[in-house]
Amino acid sequence: MQSALTKIILDESRQGESFLSSLPENKHFVKTFYIESYGCQMNFSDSEIVASILNGVGFSAISNPEHADLILINTCSIREKAEQTVRTRLKIFEQVKNRRPSVLVGVLGCMAERLKSKFLEEEKLVDLVIGPDAYRTLPALIGDAESGLRAVNVLLSRDETYADIAPVRLGSNGITAFVSIMRGCNNMCSFCVVPFTRGRERSRNAESIYAECCNLFQNGFREVTLLGQNVDSYYWVDERSSEIVTFANLLKKVASISPQLRIRFSTSHPKDITDDVLVAISIHPNICKYIHLPVQSGSTRVLQQMNRTYTREWYMAKIIRIRELVPDCGISSDIISGFCTETEEDHLATLSVMSFARFDMSYMFFYSERPGTLAARRFQDDVSEETKKRRLSEVVKLQNQLSLESNERDLGKVFEVLIEGDSKKSKHEWMGRNSQNKVVIFPKSGNCFVPGNYVDVRISACTGATLLGSAISGNCN
Ligand code: SAH
Ligand code: SF4
Ligand code: F3S
Repeated sequence: MQSALTKIILDESRQGESFLSSLPENKHFVKTFYIESYGCQMNFSDSEIVASILNGVGFSAISNPEHADLILINTCSIREKAEQTVRTRLKIFEQVKNRRPSVLVGVLGCMAERLKSKFLEEEKLVDLVIGPDAYRTLPALIGDAESGLRAVNVLLSRDETYADIAPVRLGSNGITAFVSIMRGCNNMCSFCVVPFTRGRERSRNAESIYAECCNLFQNGFREVTLLGQNVDSYYWVDERSSEIVTFANLLKKVASISPQLRIRFSTSHPKDITDDVLVAISIHPNICKYIHLPVQSGSTRVLQQMNRTYTREWYMAKIIRIRELVPDCGISSDIISGFCTETEEDHLATLSVMSFARFDMSYMFFYSERPGTLAARRFQDDVSEETKKRRLSEVVKLQNQLSLESNERDLGKVFEVLIEGDSKKSKHEWMGRNSQNKVVIFPKSGNCFVPGNYVDVRISACTGATLLGSAISGNCN
């Protein structure tokens, strides 16, 4: 049961209303907020939308929660551990609130959506719970919370894309930025909570994506990453011209802004990635030769249980096609160890598909059952924790070897590197990335380069994670 002081928005008509326009326009920042983000790039990108909405009503971002009027935590539910991290952070914010009871604490994102008003029962310090499609209502909900109500809005929308909101870049290096092109997911991978926390898939207006990328370029940014849970199913129709914009068309549109603007994208789904996209990558030098193509498992039987809708052979055929059309393409993956019913043979099939694909990099996880998902309802989480961890460590070991081999193959090659800033270890070295998304470190050695410059770097050494080299040319203008 909710307390009488809780307001839960269940009225669909409030969704999408412009609360910003009903509030006095604030030219001066009168309050401060602190925001912390977890989970995928999508969530980080959402935090920039939230920052924009809050700026519009007089809140400015600060980097210390101790001094903020409003503390927000943008949460992830993908694995149990992600949720534990959030709970640990909330304990810290509880201490701030004990010292300063006027501070408001809000939970945003996927965990807010998953737990809804239960959050208010479980975490007594939380004042606001707001799902990923309800950020426009944040100013009104803050008003409610300031007057003593604990407010919840977790309505999912079929059409919200925040297309008209110009994100405020948080913690930006001024060179690379994320741009959301769609929201939600219509796939029902059985292990995954995202369709429940993010709702139905919808594509953002292509014109607004183009305009945002142009604006970023004009402001000195040199790389945009187009974001969606399944970018290959991007689909938008221009009502005026009836032009159909597919993902391949969108890539080409954004690539036409300037040869000096690099385009990346994430995430591609093996069932949906098309030749059109691969051809676009091969033709346009500024569309990066890098594809994140999560395999999840190398066993057709497990893939079926996961509802990934492709087989091991289909995945391998996609890898062959990528290598045919984009010979020097970087490929990375996501892998889950110990999914329900996974046998030793299935696990070995995953290891062999990794070797076949020669992934440059992978994000590797052991299966974490998520309440409400298809797998939680249908299957038993029957692989022991010990076995999951052992299999995961074998996957990680193989990936480390593949990453090192991949980097060793680059020794002696010259790559065009976009400088992002100082290397983490030394201010005497630059850090940048090549088209294949590999991190490249090289000495500044008295040259006139600055972040945002493209430089040719010859690779002379490597670790499993990094290429090391020296600049041989570059545009110093
Ligand atoms: N939309 C992307 C991925 C989103 S989630 C895609 O389809 O590939 C990122 C990754 O988290 C997934 O690719 C998967 O490898 C992992 N993941 C998702 N749910 C998980 C779970 N219940 N346990 C462990 N890993 C999970
Ligand atoms: Fe989850 Fe699958 Fe959608 Fe990715 S494609 S977000 S793994 S349901
Ligand atoms: Fe996590 Fe939600 Fe992203 S569950 S991975 S923050 S879509």
